[in-house]
Amino acid sequence: MDRRTFLNWVGVGLLASSLPVAIAACSSQTTQAESTNNKGGFKVVGKVSQLSKNDRLLNKNSPVGAVLVVRTSPTSNLSAVNPTCTHKGCTVDWAAKSQKFVCPCHAAEYGIDGKVLKGPASQPLKTYKAKIEGDSVLVSS
Ligand code: FES
Repeated sequence: MDRRTFLNWVGVGLLASSLPVAIAACSSQTTQAESTNNKGGFKVVGKVSQLSKNDRLLNKNSPVGAVLVVRTSPTSNLSAVNPTCTHKGCTVDWAAKSQKFVCPCHAAEYGIDGKVLKGPASQPLKTYKAKIEGDSVLVSS
């Protein structure tokens, strides 16, 4: 074996042996980033400071899709729904006084549990579990 062939074999060997290490390094970085936003099945959808402004937090591009988190009183638990109206797809808003989700397009109304209170919508809103952890608001389907 001449010197050039020997060096080629060593080069291929080094490349082949370092490939699994490089792949593992990339995989652990992805897992670490995911774990930051995924805490026990719950995913971060916003900050408590956003929710505190008017007791609602709307994130149309959260990791679980569109989500509207509301707090009905300072001491109550959170409620979270997919705010996409099941009638024609408008985004519902939270009416704090009447404690219901109201669609601005055709006036459908949903309860805090997502169930239809008034048509024309006939299907409930998708609901999520919601909680606060540190300064983050998290939801889980
Ligand atoms: S789109 Fe919501 S009631 Fe029609």
